[in-house]
Amino acid sequence: MFRLLTAAAAVASFVSAGPISKREWNGPVLPDNLPDPSLIQVGDTWYAFTTGPGPLGNLAPAIPYATSTDFNTWTFNGGNQVLSRLGNWANPSAVWAPDVLQLPNGTFVMYYTAEGKGPAGDSRVYHCVGAATSDNVAGPYEPVDNALACPISQGGAIDPSGFVDSDGTIYVVYKVDGNNIGSGGNCNNGNGKVPTPIMLQKLMADGITLDGPPTTILDHDSADGPLVEAPSIVKKDNSYFLFFSSNCYSGPDYDTSYAVSTNGITNGGKQYAKAQAPNAPLLKTGTGSLYAPGGLTIAKDGVHVVFHADKGTTADTRQLYVGTVNLDTTKNIVTI
Ligand SMILES: *[C@@H]1O[C@H](CO)[C@@H](O)[C@H](O)[C@H]1NC(C)=O
Repeated sequence: MFRLLTAAAAVASFVSAGPISKREWNGPVLPDNLPDPSLIQVGDTWYAFTTGPGPLGNLAPAIPYATSTDFNTWTFNGGNQVLSRLGNWANPSAVWAPDVLQLPNGTFVMYYTAEGKGPAGDSRVYHCVGAATSDNVAGPYEPVDNALACPISQGGAIDPSGFVDSDGTIYVVYKVDGNNIGSGGNCNNGNGKVPTPIMLQKLMADGITLDGPPTTILDHDSADGPLVEAPSIVKKDNSYFLFFSSNCYSGPDYDTSYAVSTNGITNGGKQYAKAQAPNAPLLKTGTGSLYAPGGLTIAKDGVHVVFHADKGTTADTRQLYVGTVNLDTTKNIVTI
């Protein structure tokens, strides 16, 4: 009994006081390690699926997630039953950066990252992006056995995020993991030589079949350090807002920023326009008490967001934060 009370008290101490009454961020909302959160609302319940522990051998890897009905008080779930198994394309591994969208007929599609199969004799670890489907938001998801994106020669692919456009067309955005094949320095790409493009991939109505080749909509430049990653896209009026993280996740420069297209979802084949200071970065070390805030996902309502920030100054425990943002489509800026 004493232990139960202690545990309850410990959880309660992480629940902040009062509902979010104005546009702001709030957290950590749980003490747990919940990196790279996604966000979807189903009925009255918000779900934030996150990167899991691993590898877990032949067991289905865990996908921890948090739920909330008021976007203020969150409940942790270990996520052992979320994914029935990895797609055949993957090596046994953890799952990173899962993201869920719902098709018009109610079916849920989960996009996820796991370890891909590199060339024979190559000891480097590559990651690729796959999909899985379920009738229930919390799973169990059944995987598609082919990868959605697995550009091994470019370093692999990570951080998928689904998006349903206003005309119903389904897309997934992801990062080509170029810094995985870089050499030296910050996040293995200190000289910034290897591209880490954010790709926009159109999908068929099933949300799991590719429709044509992907389009590059962002890449890193000198302000981003070695990479851009963790894309999440939303549309408001005629503006597409692409949130992303830049710099290395394990250091103090990791941050959250955004870029905008007012010329359609592909921006006519050009990269989205990055927001500039003082409007960006949106979140960085020193914003409030945040350290290395990243992995932001915006809900399809264009208001609610989740992201992680380090507990302390290492990436060992990346805790879940929530917030609301304002997308200003007259100036094409985001404020919190
Ligand atoms: C929903 O639609 C998708 C795409 O057409 C299809 O694959 C899936 O079987 C459908 N699910 C149900 C429950 O009808």
